[in-house]
Amino acid sequence: MTACNWDGSSYDRISTIQQGWGGEVLGRLELAGDERVLDAGCGSGRVTEMVLERLPRGRVVAVDASPSMVSAAQERLTGPGSPYAGRVEVLRCDLLELRLREPVDAVISTATFHWIADHDRLFARIRAAMRPGGRFVAQCGGEGNIDGLRSHARGVLARAPYAEHFEDWKAPWNYAGAEITQERLRTAGFSEARCWLAPAPSEPEEPREFLQTIVLGPHVQRLPEELRERFMDDVLEAIGEPVVIDYVRLNIAARA
Ligand SMILES: C[S@@+](CC[C@H](N)C(=O)[O-])C[C@H]1O[C@@H](n2cnc3c(N)ncnc32)[C@H](O)[C@@H]1O
Repeated sequence: MTACNWDGSSYDRISTIQQGWGGEVLGRLELAGDERVLDAGCGSGRVTEMVLERLPRGRVVAVDASPSMVSAAQERLTGPGSPYAGRVEVLRCDLLELRLREPVDAVISTATFHWIADHDRLFARIRAAMRPGGRFVAQCGGEGNIDGLRSHARGVLARAPYAEHFEDWKAPWNYAGAEITQERLRTAGFSEARCWLAPAPSEPEEPREFLQTIVLGPHVQRLPEELRERFMDDVLEAIGEPVVIDYVRLNIAARA
């Protein structure tokens, strides 16, 4: 799965766990209520909406690379009758190419950076979009994230009829450690940077759709249509009950 082929409406419906994390990260961002804030990797806009609630006189620039996520976010945030009209802009853009017209006062990003391989370039683009002194809070998958779950998936993928579709496959995730991320943020020009890992085991309410849309999306999309449901049956059987995902989150608190 690349940044682009998400299913925005499925994600919007089932991403309760990500919304919980979003609320937690937003809780770390001090806001007066009149700032201009970037939501980097806004998905379907549920976390963006929480940011807008904290900014009665402020504005949000919401950026995502996926067309399906961008249209879900536009529908949620800028549709007819939206209470946020005029205070939010939803842009389709790769964060590695990010260039904003005006610098923002703060940046939030949740559940996004592990989908991006080049963190040096990512942090440089984010730093360049911020005014000096601005706050940057983020969380994404970190070192050790879903190791257990991926090992169940690997066991299934090693077998026929799946193995032939994964011969030259390279996992798309970048689960970075705390220290290296701190160094990268400093190198990108952040004056302060603190990063830490935190285990966050979670039990999704609808495990099958959750795994298929989010966690195992890259595996599922690699398979031909006719093998996808069978693959999900096999992985769910390998995991057993209850389905607890061994998430580990990498947290970022930095100042431009
Ligand atoms: C799991 S979703 C998180 C969405 C939202 N922040 C949330 O917490 O619900 C990850 C998002 O990152 C976006 N993404 C991944 N790589 C990206 C890139 N290089 N540029 C912009 N968006 C990207 C995907 O399109 C997807 O919408």
